[in-house]
Amino acid sequence: MIIAIDGPAGTGKSTIAVMLAKNLKGKDGQPFTYINSGNLYRAITLVCLREGVDPADSKKALEYARGAPLAYREGKLYLGDDMVEDLLHSDEVDRHVSPLSAIVPIRHVVNDLIREIAAGLNAVVEGRDMTTVVFPHAEHRFFLDASIKERARRRFEQGVSNLGLEEIEEALIKRDSMDRNKIEGSLFLGEGVYYLDTSGLTLMQVYDTLHMKLNM
Ligand code: DC
Repeated sequence: MIIAIDGPAGTGKSTIAVMLAKNLKGKDGQPFTYINSGNLYRAITLVCLREGVDPADSKKALEYARGAPLAYREGKLYLGDDMVEDLLHSDEVDRHVSPLSAIVPIRHVVNDLIREIAAGLNAVVEGRDMTTVVFPHAEHRFFLDASIKERARRRFEQGVSNLGLEEIEEALIKRDSMDRNKIEGSLFLGEGVYYLDTSGLTLMQVYDTLHMKLNM
C-alpha cells in the first residue's frame, strides 16, 4: 500500500510522514517504509557540490545522479556507506536543490529509484509530485499546505538555517515559485487529492486528521 503526501516546504510533511510510517501497519500486517523524495534530490545536489559541479549543469548533474550510490536503509538515506541525512538541509543545498530538481532526466532517475524502493512494500512517500506523477494511483493521497508566514516560522524554529526569519521567507517564496513552475513534476493539487491547510493546526491535529482519513 502506498500513502503519498505532497506539499510545499515547511508544511510538516516529513514529520507527519515519519509518524504515519512508524505507527501504521499495512493490510498485510507489514510495517511501512518512509521515503522522502526531496532528500534524494538533496543528496544528488550534495554530490555535485562536493565534486565542484554546478548542480544546474544538467549534463554533469545527470551523470552524478545516475552514478550516485543512493539507498534507503531503515528510513535513512545513504550515499554509499555514509548516512547523509544530516548534511542535506544546509543553506547551500537549499539554494541549489530546486534548479537541480527541475532537470527532467534527473527527475526520471529519482522517480525510477523511488518506485524501485517502494515496489512490493507498504510505503509512505512524500515530496512534490508523489500524488500526481510518481504514484497517481496510490491508495491514499494527501496535500499538506500552510501560509507562507507559518512555513517560514516553522523553518526558522527548526534552527537548521543561518538565515533570519525574513530571509527564510524570501528563500521559501523563491523556491515555491521554482517548484510550482517546473516542466515536469511541478507542485500542484491533483484531482481527488485530499487538501489540508495546516496553518492553525498542531502536528498532532494534522496527524489525527490524516489518520482518521486513512481509516486504518
Ligand atoms: O521537500 P524538500 O524541501 O526537502 O525538497 C527539496 C527540493 O526538491 C524542493 O525544492 C523541491 C524538490 N522536490 C521535487 O522537485 N520533487 C519532489 N518529489 C520532492 C522534492
